[in-house]
Amino acid sequence: MDPAIETQVEAWLSRMSLAQKVGQMTQGERQHITPEQVRDFHIGSVLSGGGSAPGENRPADWVAMNDAYWAASVESGDGLLPIPLLYGIDAIHGNNNVLGATVFPHNIGLGAARDPDLIRRIAAVTAKEILATGVEWTFAPTLAVARDMRWGRVYESYSSDPDLVASYGRAFVEGLQGSLGDGDVVACLKHWVGDGATTDGIDQGDAAISEEDLRRLHIAPYLPALEAGALTVMASYNSWNGVKCHGHTRLLTEILKDELGFQGLVVSDWNGIDQVHEDPLEAVVQSVNAGIDLFMVPDTWQRFIHDLTAAVEAGRVPMARIDDAVRRILRVKLAYGLFDRPRPAERTWSNSASYGSAEHRALAREAVQKSLVLLDHREDVLPLSKGARILVAGRNADNRGHQCGGFTVAWQGSSGNALIEGGTSIWEGIQQLAPGAVLDVDASDLDGASYDVAVVVIGESPYAEGMGDIRPADKKVARGSAPADLPKADLVPYAQTLQHRINRPEDLALIERIAARGIPVVTVFVSGRPVITDAEIAASQAFVAAWLPGSEGGGVADVLFGEVPFRGRLGFDWAGVDGKTRFTLGHGLSTGN
Ligand code: BGC
Ligand code: BGC
Repeated sequence: MDPAIETQVEAWLSRMSLAQKVGQMTQGERQHITPEQVRDFHIGSVLSGGGSAPGENRPADWVAMNDAYWAASVESGDGLLPIPLLYGIDAIHGNNNVLGATVFPHNIGLGAARDPDLIRRIAAVTAKEILATGVEWTFAPTLAVARDMRWGRVYESYSSDPDLVASYGRAFVEGLQGSLGDGDVVACLKHWVGDGATTDGIDQGDAAISEEDLRRLHIAPYLPALEAGALTVMASYNSWNGVKCHGHTRLLTEILKDELGFQGLVVSDWNGIDQVHEDPLEAVVQSVNAGIDLFMVPDTWQRFIHDLTAAVEAGRVPMARIDDAVRRILRVKLAYGLFDRPRPAERTWSNSASYGSAEHRALAREAVQKSLVLLDHREDVLPLSKGARILVAGRNADNRGHQCGGFTVAWQGSSGNALIEGGTSIWEGIQQLAPGAVLDVDASDLDGASYDVAVVVIGESPYAEGMGDIRPADKKVARGSAPADLPKADLVPYAQTLQHRINRPEDLALIERIAARGIPVVTVFVSGRPVITDAEIAASQAFVAAWLPGSEGGGVADVLFGEVPFRGRLGFDWAGVDGKTRFTLGHGLSTGN
């Protein structure tokens, strides 16, 4: 804590009305709140949900939008203290919601790279691409320690090893927040806590574990990131032994704030307080008293303001708790220097030419190279020779949408190349190094052509959050995190099994059809988690886990052709069909060059 900031906070707090305090504790979603409402209700923060974008979704559209919100937030018509608004977004693998951004591998791939310095550099570049859009705050890094591969958010987790996650958390925060200067953004550690510990990997489910295990596995990774000065933390949808984190005084206040000394703000997750109690007013009372400071109430923010005000007036929420929350919000804004920054349109990095630049993409490509894990390799089929007759096949070969995964332009991700501007698909990367290679996605022309080797790019299709869960079909996904207009029928889990040959029989059939011609197959598997792939591995001469590499598919080609060696190592165990671990955390072959 900085004494000068604390003095300022106290001076301002004493000048604020209850309405302004409650407004500062409120975060609405851009589709549901106008600049005028930001001004009239003294709103503290606005966010974009996944896929929510202004205008044509170009940086200039974002800067203009943020400029309007910012200007409204500091208009002090009624003589109240002008408090600039903080705009938040899920920039979780680059500034991934915006067209043309550099899209980095999802966290699971970065975990395989075992390189905290790389993480720091990625975070610093991500900060610049966020600032290019006039935004100041990202809901990242995710410090989840995923323990069950059926969870739909495994790819947001660096590893099941808390030490690895801990080493990345610090680096990511340092990269994002830097010195909290012009080129830096505010970080948000999420989701506090135990998101990766839920029974059967059910998203937003219950973490039924002892406090000792919670601390050792799930709280420990936060410590270095908190020490590094992360300014914000997001509460988690899950419950811990039956009590929702959003209403958990022990987790939010006693452990995070009192014991660990966290002085920044705790933000709730998207409609997360709704799961604390079925009565909205009761949910507000319990979650604010438990320690939530800023409320992500995307489309219900007016009801929230009404309920919180009523609860304070009825004496159900002590004024001291409101003051503590507002202190934290002002402290974050002051620490970040928000009051001294010009309006978004006039900031140094707004609309910066470095957004999506070759330099940024080179870093993403390096990350892809370092993230690939060679699981199996026989008959020395790798590295590929550029002069060989190469067939490239598979659903994910020329599909930048699939290789980016969820949380890329659209919340659930996209299919095809259209929405991922710039960068290269895996096929395009191969083609650049080996111009003679042939793309034939279904290998429909095996009769007429002869090949020395085939690269078959298969795997999962994009998903996000609970819609990526593997669970029985009758178990619907919690509506909590889904857009209100999403048809109920769409709230189904991704699949019922982790066995790829059951989910995608056509992938195995493709490998087998090519192999039957005597063509050696290098399988490149694009996925957000370890998937049971014994049959696909057995049918291939080499099997590469490529995770969700992002926009720079060229990094995959670099490694396949031996321009750089394989060096990724599993951040998770990879199971076999017998239910046993087939490849252990840390596994990763090299091709010896
Ligand atoms: C997710 C968070 C995300 C938030 C805002 C929630 O559904 O759980 O990770 O930051 O939405 O988009
Ligand atoms: C959030 C979801 C939300 C979606 C709506 C995502 O960022 O995580 O909870 O439903 O945005 O667009």
